[in-house]
Amino acid sequence: MIKTLKQFYSFLFKYKKALVAFILALISASIIESLIPYASKLLIDTVSLGNANFLTKMVVLIIGLRIISNLLHTLARYTGDKALIPASRDARIKVFRQIQDLDFAFHVDKNTGSLISAFKRGDNAFFGLFENINIELISITISLGVTLFFFANISPIIAGLMFVVAAINITMGWYLIKLNIHKRTVFNTAEDKISGIITDNLLNYETVKFFAQEEKEETRLKKEFKPWIDKLWKYANSFRVMDIAIGAVSGLGGLAVLWISIKKLVAGSITTGDLVMIIGFTSDFWYQSFHLLFRIRGIANQFIDIKKYFSILDNRILIKDPEKPTIIEKIKGDIEFQDVCFDYPRGKKNALVNTSFKIKAGESIAFVGKSGAGKTTIIKLLLRFYDVNKGKILVDNIDIRDLTKAQLRSSIGIVPQEPILFNNTIGFNIAYGKSNVTKKEITIAAKMANIYDFIKELPDKYETNVGERGIKLSGGEKQRLAIARMLLTKPKIIIFDEATSNLDSESETLIQDALWKIAKNRTVLIIAHRFSTIRKADRIIVIENGKIAESGSHINLIKKKGVYHRFWKLQSQGKTTKKFELLGPTPKAIRSQKQH
Ligand SMILES: Nc1ncnc2c1ncn2[C@@H]1O[C@H](COP(=O)(O)OP(=O)(O)OP(=O)(O)O)[C@@H](O)[C@H]1O
Ligand SMILES: [Mg+2]
Repeated sequence: MIKTLKQFYSFLFKYKKALVAFILALISASIIESLIPYASKLLIDTVSLGNANFLTKMVVLIIGLRIISNLLHTLARYTGDKALIPASRDARIKVFRQIQDLDFAFHVDKNTGSLISAFKRGDNAFFGLFENINIELISITISLGVTLFFFANISPIIAGLMFVVAAINITMGWYLIKLNIHKRTVFNTAEDKISGIITDNLLNYETVKFFAQEEKEETRLKKEFKPWIDKLWKYANSFRVMDIAIGAVSGLGGLAVLWISIKKLVAGSITTGDLVMIIGFTSDFWYQSFHLLFRIRGIANQFIDIKKYFSILDNRILIKDPEKPTIIEKIKGDIEFQDVCFDYPRGKKNALVNTSFKIKAGESIAFVGKSGAGKTTIIKLLLRFYDVNKGKILVDNIDIRDLTKAQLRSSIGIVPQEPILFNNTIGFNIAYGKSNVTKKEITIAAKMANIYDFIKELPDKYETNVGERGIKLSGGEKQRLAIARMLLTKPKIIIFDEATSNLDSESETLIQDALWKIAKNRTVLIIAHRFSTIRKADRIIVIENGKIAESGSHINLIKKKGVYHRFWKLQSQGKTTKKFELLGPTPKAIRSQKQH
């Protein structure tokens, strides 16, 4: 609890001046406001004295107190917002930044819907906590203090009674709030599940439509609403219990105070003015203590939300930058894997086993292997999305763990297996990897990636929006756009992860030409299925079950008559489609092989 409050105030304390002004204005406003019942007592007492001059003064005083307290309240809210608004922005940016910095492993496990709803609730709670703790709690405590002070002067019995009622309410409230918090936490998990289903559905709308499963999706949501409703009722009813219990104690307490006061008035030990003041203070006191409970209830809920929000900051970043990173002026592009072993956290074991290879700067290497063999895993490790379990990966003879992630990744350009684009314009997406990009650079990259002709024909050209994740483009267009995006950053190491798999033969040839042109003086890693691409590489590494099965030039591997030879034979005979040859031979291919 303390930790969460500390985190909350650490954001606010950055705006000290505004915060100090806010507290001063708020305290003054609350004190002045609480004095009004006392001023009313003086007014009533003056009426009985019949002093017209003093009466006017008292009326002016009461109106003046109201106006001043209102003005001070407004000032408090204004200065409070001066601290609150930038602080909540800072918190949001910090949490967002943390999500950015979190590892690949966090992102593959996260549930986007739940994360967004935790983020949203947390941000609302930031405002809510400020209102409840800093504004309401402070002013209510002051007004209760002032009330008790005046009661202690008039009648210690009444003050004592009020104190006891407040104590009972606080104790009872404490237990009931705990129950309420528990119900809320349980309800939040149900709420997060609903958000998760909705987000998952929104992201997969295409699959839903492919299989015409709209009804099923509705049923899936309805099913999840059953526990949601149940938990919401339990949560809502915990409020009812609280209202009834606290309301009953407060009501009884109020009656007792009134009864004692009337008895005192009849006995002549207090004046009518005193009675008016007591009624003013008590009604204010009950109102305030009820209000206080209501606020504490709010604080409890907001506390849960903000705790979850800040807990995003507790996620540990496992892939860290070194404390003293080695800075390379210019990366040359030598790559070496030394005895690398890797298991996916909570996933596939032995994704890579004792893998060793060396790639010289400027060399081009093709990785070949069945689906799931571990080709993309090699790329993920080279980019340091994960750290190896054993062995090392070196770039320019430096362990990549000694480089900053930014330096490492910015010297590697990748066209991923499934390029994903920002929901923005074509121009924005091509220019994404580099700052201060000129129109000319974008055009050159687009031409090289063979997407220029397509863009030129669009009515909005580079300003065309590509839709969420690039959905408005065809698979091949997305790939070419991703190639242009990569080319623009002019990296020393280039990775193509089946980057031409979605292209027709003509476009592929054009891209291949571009690739081999830019490949000069750059290290190129290609994962490909087509031998037209593979054979142009200086060296080929065949991966099987996370291990290197064989490596060498196309000619050598063919002569060796191993795994590679089998793949090649299947494809060169044209008996398999391009995608199937590495999944293993098709029955037809096996038959044809047997015939030869
Ligand atoms: N994030 C992950 N968590 C757990 N296991 C994973 C993860 N990513 C990949 N794997 C597993 O690791 C193995 C190697 O995957 P990888 O993506 O490297 O295959 P690949 O050779 O690139 O295959 P493809 O040709 O189909 O792209 C697979 O069995 C896969 O299921
Ligand atoms: Mg892959």
